[in-house]
Amino acid sequence: MKALILAGGKGTRLRPITFSMAKQLVPVANKPVLFYGLEAIADAGIREVGMIVGDTAAEIERAVGDGSRWGVQVTYIPQPEPLGLAHAVLTAEPYLRDEPFLMYLGDNLVTSSLQPLVQAFQQRQPNALILLAEVPNPQEFGVAELEGERVVRLIEKPQQPPSNLALVGVYLFDKHIFEAARAIKPSWRGELEITDAIQYLIDHGYTVESQQITGWWKDTGSLDALLEANRLVLEDLQPSQQGTLEETTLYGRVAIGEGSLLRRCTVRGPAIIGANCHLEDCYIGAFTAIGDGVRLVSCEIEYSIVLEGSCVESVETRIEGSLLGKNAVVRGGARRPRTLRLMLGDSSLVETP
Ligand code: G1P
Repeated sequence: MKALILAGGKGTRLRPITFSMAKQLVPVANKPVLFYGLEAIADAGIREVGMIVGDTAAEIERAVGDGSRWGVQVTYIPQPEPLGLAHAVLTAEPYLRDEPFLMYLGDNLVTSSLQPLVQAFQQRQPNALILLAEVPNPQEFGVAELEGERVVRLIEKPQQPPSNLALVGVYLFDKHIFEAARAIKPSWRGELEITDAIQYLIDHGYTVESQQITGWWKDTGSLDALLEANRLVLEDLQPSQQGTLEETTLYGRVAIGEGSLLRRCTVRGPAIIGANCHLEDCYIGAFTAIGDGVRLVSCEIEYSIVLEGSCVESVETRIEGSLLGKNAVVRGGARRPRTLRLMLGDSSLVETP
């Protein structure tokens, strides 16, 4: 069985970060989202991985390489335009040919193993196997309507969702999905939706099975979801300490990378701090991920993601629920403002008095 990872798309909901970075490479607990997917696929015993890439192809290729790091062989498949997930499947048809495959959306994160799913598909051989998860906001996803165990209807981003069961970005298909993708028409958002293609399978008598996900799932395409994914991954953080601590107290599980210096800091885990960081007179709160080469002086940060090379200095108010892009600078001065909530693009500069 092959895998098809979708790593194209524009990542509009994570702008401005995604003006200069592929959404699949935004780090969760200091590791690109996409790498979790590659690990899960390799873990499930799949060795051949097709990777759909778009505008950010060069960056993705630089990060992933030939896949040997995960023991897989990655073949890049350029999608000329982001015309939808079913369009991506058609673009990959010459690579996938008649074989069944696992499709994985590169910005999705699942914690449960993909192995039982692959096994179930191989044993029972339905035409498609989809994964479902209960969500509080089904109108933002593809939604499934079930009759007993049977999937009867799938709707993409319904205004009135028939259930709270969202389609997780992990699917198993056999070759009939190509016929379905060719038959459907673009949706209101101008895309060939995979959800519509699966509905075609249902309507034409093919077997579509579903499984509810065990463990958690996040589509990291938005700031809130990304921060939640970061929190959930950090829940399982293994502590490690390779930096230098001066008058610094660590509580709970904290990982600190090589060459980092923490002076007069308090860190409350779970939190991860990358390599070659300089932290002075700081409070780092739970569920925070600090990338490599970050400089934090006289500030407090909690439940946030700070990308490599960023700098926060003399900010009175605690920064919370924020995402700072690469090389972003936040510099404070006097006693205002009272709150800060930031989503900064790469090389942004914020200066408060
Ligand atoms: C896509 C699918 C949707 C699915 C979601 C999972 O949505 O179209 O059915 O529930 O991924 O992440 P998109 O991210 O394109 O809005």
